[in-house]
Amino acid sequence: MKSFYITTAIDYVNGSPHLGHAYEKVLTDVIARFRRQMGDKVHFLTGVDEHGQKVQASAKKRGIPPQQFCDEVSAEFRALLPKLNISNDDFIRTTDERHKKVVRQVLQQLFEKGEIYKAEYRGFYSTRQEQFLQEKDRNPDGTWPELFGEVTEIVEANYFFKLKQYQEWLVEFLTKNENFIFPAFRQKQVVEFLKEPLNDLCISRPRERLEWGIPLPFDDGYVTYVWFDALLNYYSAVADLPGVWPATYHVIGKDILVPPHAVYWPIMLHAANIPLPQGIIAHGWWLQRGAKMSKSTGNALNPLDLVTEFGADAFRYFLIREMNVGQDSDFTRDQFLVRYNSELANNLGNLVNRTLNMTTRFAAGIVPAAEAIEDAEREVQTQWAKTRDEVIVLNEGFQFHAALERTMQFVTATNAYIERRAPWKLGKSTEANDQALLRTSLATMAEALRLAVALMQHVIPSTTTKINAVLGYTPGADWRAELDWSAKLSGAKVAEALVLFPRPAPPEKALAKV
Ligand code: ME8
Ligand code: MG
Repeated sequence: MKSFYITTAIDYVNGSPHLGHAYEKVLTDVIARFRRQMGDKVHFLTGVDEHGQKVQASAKKRGIPPQQFCDEVSAEFRALLPKLNISNDDFIRTTDERHKKVVRQVLQQLFEKGEIYKAEYRGFYSTRQEQFLQEKDRNPDGTWPELFGEVTEIVEANYFFKLKQYQEWLVEFLTKNENFIFPAFRQKQVVEFLKEPLNDLCISRPRERLEWGIPLPFDDGYVTYVWFDALLNYYSAVADLPGVWPATYHVIGKDILVPPHAVYWPIMLHAANIPLPQGIIAHGWWLQRGAKMSKSTGNALNPLDLVTEFGADAFRYFLIREMNVGQDSDFTRDQFLVRYNSELANNLGNLVNRTLNMTTRFAAGIVPAAEAIEDAEREVQTQWAKTRDEVIVLNEGFQFHAALERTMQFVTATNAYIERRAPWKLGKSTEANDQALLRTSLATMAEALRLAVALMQHVIPSTTTKINAVLGYTPGADWRAELDWSAKLSGAKVAEALVLFPRPAPPEKALAKV
């Protein structure tokens, strides 16, 4: 069985990870966990981008050698993963020997094929984006867009990769593979971009300008351009693993789609006779008051502050619930608290509390068997079947925000069902029919809770585990088989209480800056 191979971008280690980096890991993890649940053999790669001018400059600023600097910052990126509950199978560093070896091999192969030549490069370079710029990248007034940071003019002899000659091939490839890039409007932007002629790609920097990189195998006086090096991580990490390459999806931010991932990468692979990935998922940005959160502008939030305060699952839930994959979203603490309180603490939290509390009070903590199934119960069950089917389709199409919204509607409906049945009243009655209804309502709420959290398991995995534990339930290995309305909980011994999402501290507490 071919692996479902999914990757994140590899982060520059020029500064500490921020909420934008955390989001990309969480989004990719949500896809990876969902596909595993659906039965795929998933391979999930993430890692760090350690070479290039930007990292070299940051190391210099700290007054330490680049390798030592990379070791420190990379450890920080890596340590974030378990704190966010990320289920990656591998972590690659571009300073790993396994990576450098493959970069040298591909370069040598392309060089021998005549795909690489030497010429003078004259133009502009953005260190912040590690990108060679062209005249068309300027603003209409001649200045450079803010995204590029400081732009310097360079004139140097360099090696070039013959990108231009593959332009037509790429256009044809995108025409044949209409769903190569998600969301679809981004693919249209790439096709637009390709209406202008491409330049060949400068793939080297002279060593006297940049020391921190992989030396070209055919000319020791040069190091490899950081993007040519970095993109190959997706391939180098699995070069020795059978059945993994090609990648299923590369998850990246929209700022690095055009040209690196949508133009350079497919052409590099094609030129080197390596199969292409199935697709690219380009997410949007987390903003702060309308501006992209970034390491270089100092408006970044430390994801660990939120994780420490609210837990990894609440953090994951918010990012996935709030962001429509592909769009931008402004981060505010107020909006975080709104979702935390209304959806997690109140809606889901209430269902948990009521289920545990009433089962303890009225059934000695043992989930009863359902007896008197009436319209109210049938409605919950019908809603469940619809919710489940819709949510799976939404998740398959990366509409995770809508999937969570839909699942929470089911939780709301279950809470409404509890109001309608009012087990606290039934519990006071000695009528046999009321007692049967009481048992049925306890069974129904417990089952609805089990199912609802199973459907959010890829987003809030530890909450799902905790809820299953307090329901006295161990789920089976086949996730889809867990999603049928059942009597699985009948006879289970539940815990008396579980505090899942405690009330947060008062809102004055400002979030610390990175
Ligand atoms: O671009 N919101 O690294 P990087 C959402 N090393 N995502 C964001 C974001 C934000 N505010 N800020 C950054 C690089 N990202 C290269 C990648 S891949 C072979 C090499 C995302 O550290 C960004 O879009 O600048 C990118 O996908 C990832 O974080 C790493 O950004
Ligand atoms: Mg960046």
